[in-house]
Amino acid sequence: RKKVTINTLRKMYQNGEKITMLTAHDFPSGLLADQAGIDVVLVGDSLAMVGLGMEDTNQITLDDMLHHSRAVARGVRSAFVVTDLPMGSYELSPQQALQSSISLVQRGRATSVKIEGGKEIAPTIKTITDIGIPVLAHIGLTPQRQGSLGGFVVQSKTAASASKLLSDALAVQDAGAWGVVLEAVPADVAKLVTEALDIPTIGIGAGDGTSGQVLVQIDMLGNFPSGRFLPKFVKKYADVFEVSRKAIGDFRDEVKAGTYPAQEHTYPVKEKEVAEFRK
Ligand code: KIV
Ligand code: NA
Repeated sequence: RKKVTINTLRKMYQNGEKITMLTAHDFPSGLLADQAGIDVVLVGDSLAMVGLGMEDTNQITLDDMLHHSRAVARGVRSAFVVTDLPMGSYELSPQQALQSSISLVQRGRATSVKIEGGKEIAPTIKTITDIGIPVLAHIGLTPQRQGSLGGFVVQSKTAASASKLLSDALAVQDAGAWGVVLEAVPADVAKLVTEALDIPTIGIGAGDGTSGQVLVQIDMLGNFPSGRFLPKFVKKYADVFEVSRKAIGDFRDEVKAGTYPAQEHTYPVKEKEVAEFRK
């Protein structure tokens, strides 16, 4: 597969080809997404929750993101790698955001960074894109701001808030973002925003009218115990947790029963060597 660049993504958008994006958090998950043919691999700060067991995405640091971004990048051959700017790494000034973005590219091996926010973050997006680092914007439900949003709740359900979403989308586009993630907004609103823009929208919980779709890999693989809360938009394509739990249980049972390791898992040695060793 040919390397996916910003130009590949622009071409897909122009041709009306849907852009696929999936999160990855380490070497094997990066390898998997890449080998399955995903266009954009996102090192999302959702890693905090699904990969590190943290309460929310606000506990993860830039250093954590750098560590994981590097690991993902080692597994990715062709896909376009985007890494999230975590809370605390960009809000103080455009210069702080630029410094963090350079780190994510230089030490995190990302090609692009993602940043949460609309109009208020547009000058920051401009600063980063002006020096040549592609930025993916993220509006609608912005998990880093869950405190002021009142949790993980659907956004833009009123005409006024939908207008705000549209003006945020236009602002990040004008600032130079190559695309914008729309999270947890009604399908009709996401479709209208998509039609108003000249850059791709990547939806998550935003219906089928966006230019692409993104999911969290651990969620769509079902790599978590049954009973955990899942947002309405997540489709579980597999039950990896159950497959893995069973495999580990089988290993445990076979060791207890003495049926593992078998002959084929064992290194042989010549009898004469053993006899000599015994002496
Ligand atoms: O952190 C993340 O995984 C994300 C996607 C859900 C868009 O930001
Ligand atoms: Na994120």
